Amino acid sequence: MIERQIVIVGFMGTGKTTVAEELGRQLNLLAVDLDEEIARDHGRSPNEIILQDGENRFREIETQMVGSVLKRGLAHIVAAGGGAWTIAENRKLIRAHGAFTVWLDAPFELCWERIGQGSAARPLARSRAEAERLYDERRPLYQLADLKVAVAANESAEEIARKITGEIGGTQ
Ligand code: S3P
Repeated sequence: MIERQIVIVGFMGTGKTTVAEELGRQLNLLAVDLDEEIARDHGRSPNEIILQDGENRFREIETQMVGSVLKRGLAHIVAAGGGAWTIAENRKLIRAHGAFTVWLDAPFELCWERIGQGSAARPLARSRAEAERLYDERRPLYQLADLKVAVAANESAEEIARKITGEIGGTQ
């Protein structure tokens, strides 16, 4: 049985939101997107908050939302923003709530391709060099997740979600 909440982490463009939704469908559990919750509460998207108030302010808001989403037990599956798991305080909160973390590990090329295709501007990945530096810097932190799931360009969200359910069956 899936008893622990599941938090999906990974770099921008790894497909966290779609995989969380698909996982929710397969397991018949509610999935929420942390960034969407922030946008709903604050009336601005994370990217707008970063651009207007700076990244530090966004991280404060994000940490509050990590705590509140887990505490409310609102959803069983949470898609985090790309930076959420890289902040020590958030990792502590997620662990304290006993949530199980899944890292979607996609190659940088795939992430960059998707970042470029995304309609919303990403203030933390304005150039390829900036995005790649962040990707390399964050990898060791994503490694701290409970489960790593490799993501390839030709894989659908459905296939990736199946890989996750296959893995967590015994560990949850
Ligand atoms: C961020 C990723 C974004 C969003 C914000 C910061 C990051 O989410 O939370 O722009 O630091 O990597 P996605 O990973 O869903 O793009």
